[in-house]
Amino acid sequence: MTPRDETFTAVLDALYAELMAGVAQKCDPSWSTQYSETRFIQCADVLPATPLIRLMNLLHPILDQIAQPVEMRHGTEDLRALTDGFRLRRVDPSSIKSDRSRAQMQALFEKLGLTDFGAEMASHLDGLITEIAGPHGYHGIFFQMYREGDYISGHTDVHMGDRLDAQFLVSHGGTGVLRTLEDGFWKLHYDKPGAMNLVGPRMWHEVPPLIKRDLAQTDQPWRIGLCLRFLPNEAH
Ligand SMILES: [Fe+2]
Repeated sequence: MTPRDETFTAVLDALYAELMAGVAQKCDPSWSTQYSETRFIQCADVLPATPLIRLMNLLHPILDQIAQPVEMRHGTEDLRALTDGFRLRRVDPSSIKSDRSRAQMQALFEKLGLTDFGAEMASHLDGLITEIAGPHGYHGIFFQMYREGDYISGHTDVHMGDRLDAQFLVSHGGTGVLRTLEDGFWKLHYDKPGAMNLVGPRMWHEVPPLIKRDLAQTDQPWRIGLCLRFLPNEAH
């Protein structure tokens, strides 16, 4: 490891520590009520925004190089119904089939301190998640990455069973948003750095295309979601 790497690792470690020290300890009672009704809640100010944005800015150029495309084209055969489609990229060791590639990504996660950070952050969030959604066990950390125009059409993740995702989103130069289906219409949940989107099982949600914040801007927008996956304790 070069001195430069050591400095970089120290900066990351300081940000991880700052984020964990800043985890909100109080649960707004409305969070658990709304979650029980919709299996989704955006909890404001769960993490301090400044170190989260700084962390994402540091990680983005690294993760951007190793992100795997996740794509499905819409089917247009039935003129009455467009089938689902999505285009984004993912950085997730657990979703890589090749043993060698998975080991390489796991090694990078270890080097960046992400494996330990995910597990420790999950333990810091445990009280909050238990209060909102019941007792869950931590399953892993991964990232979802979006470029301009990337999106996911409406879906329920029904094939993922009872998984619960805690997502922390940061958009750079773009307007990122998640939409959840509520009372027959899509409801907007803008990316708010530090807010936790708790996405429960079998609820309709979609990610509209990432768009530029300003048409005159020359830099490309990006959006990154730091995701912690949980499973209900009885599934362990
Ligand atoms: Fe989803």
